[in-house]
Amino acid sequence: MKTTEMENIWLNEAFRGEVPADFHGRVGWQCPSNIALVKYWGKRGKQLPQNPSISFTLSECCTETFVSFEKADRFGFSFSFEGKENPAFGSKIEKFLMDNQAFFPFLNQLNLKVESRNTFPHSSGIASSASSMSAFVMCLLEIENQIVSKKFDFQKASYFSRLASGSAARSVFPKMALWGATDCYPNSSDEYAVSLENDIHPVFKTYRDSILIVSGETKSVSSRAGHALMEGNPYASARYVQANENTKNLLDALRSGDLDTFINITESEALQLHALMMCSNPSFILMKPNTLRIINEIRAFRNETKIPLCFTLDAGPNVHLLYPESEAEKVEQFIENELVSHCNNGLWIADHVGDGPKNLMP
Ligand code: PMV
Repeated sequence: MKTTEMENIWLNEAFRGEVPADFHGRVGWQCPSNIALVKYWGKRGKQLPQNPSISFTLSECCTETFVSFEKADRFGFSFSFEGKENPAFGSKIEKFLMDNQAFFPFLNQLNLKVESRNTFPHSSGIASSASSMSAFVMCLLEIENQIVSKKFDFQKASYFSRLASGSAARSVFPKMALWGATDCYPNSSDEYAVSLENDIHPVFKTYRDSILIVSGETKSVSSRAGHALMEGNPYASARYVQANENTKNLLDALRSGDLDTFINITESEALQLHALMMCSNPSFILMKPNTLRIINEIRAFRNETKIPLCFTLDAGPNVHLLYPESEAEKVEQFIENELVSHCNNGLWIADHVGDGPKNLMP
C-alpha cells in the first residue's frame, strides 16, 4: 500500500537499533470514550473516513491500560481485560501490532504484558473500542519515547488510534475533536483528528452527557460490518454531502455558541445514522421502543421548558442527553422523574465533556 508523507517520516525515524539488555518498565494511560455529533459512518482505503466527524471527548467513560515491557529475544504478548484473559480483544491488538510493525520495529525485541479495564459498567452496552484502542496506542508511543526519548506526539497517537479503530482517532484530545479533511478547517485531515478545544464557545466545554442505558446487549451489527454496508447503500453519496455540510455548520455553531443550530444538527445526525442502517441491505434497527419514547419525551420537554436539551445516539439503543452544565439540576430531575423508567434496570451514566487522556505513570 502507498505510504503517505507523514508515514514516511515515521518510518524513517523508527528505532531499528539494539534495545538495551536491561530495558524494562511499565507505562499506563487512561483514555476516554467520545460521542460523535457529526457521525463517521462509511470508510474507504486504509481506515479513512468517507466524511468528517466531530465529537465530544467524555470524562467518566474511560479505559485504563497498563503495559509492562522487558527486553526479549523476540516479540511476546499477553493481554488481560479486567483481570481475565481476553483472546478476542487481545488478538485485535496483536493484529494491529503485526500490521504496523514497520513503524515499531523495536517490538521484535520486547515482551509486552497488557492489562486493561474500563471505568464504565459491563452491562451498559457502551462501545469501548475508541477508549481501549487509544489507551493502548498511547502506551505503545510511551514505550517508544522511553527508547528514543522525545516529546509525546498526539498527532501520531491519533493517527495510530485511527488505524486501530476509526473513532479512536478522536479520543486523544481534550473537549472536542474533528477527524476528517474539510475545507472549512485548516489542517484537518483524514489521517488523524485535530483538537477543537480552542475553537469552541465556552458553553460547550461545560456540556454534560447523561447516557441513558436502554439495553445492555451487545450490538447486533459490528461497526466494521456497518461501515461496509455503506458501500451498497443507495443514499451513501447524499449522506456524505450532508455530513460535510453539517460539519461546516456545526463548526460555526460551536464557535458562536449557537445552541439552536447545535441541537438541529446533532439530532439530525443521530437519526440519519439510524436511518442509514435501516435502509442498508441487510437492514438493521438498533433503536428499541424505549429509545423512541425517550426521544419523544426529550423533544416535548424542550418545547415546554425551552431548556436546550438534545439527544444523540451511537450505533445502539442507548440515548445520550446533551446539555449545558447550567441546566444540570433541571435535566437530572427530568431524567429521574420521567426517563429512568425507560432505562434498563434504571441505569444511566452521568458523564461530561472531559480533559482527554491521562498519563497514569507520569
Ligand atoms: O470507530 P468505529 O469503527 O467503531 O465506528 C464508529 C461509528 C459510530 O460510533 C457509529 C459513529 C462515530 O463517529 O463514532
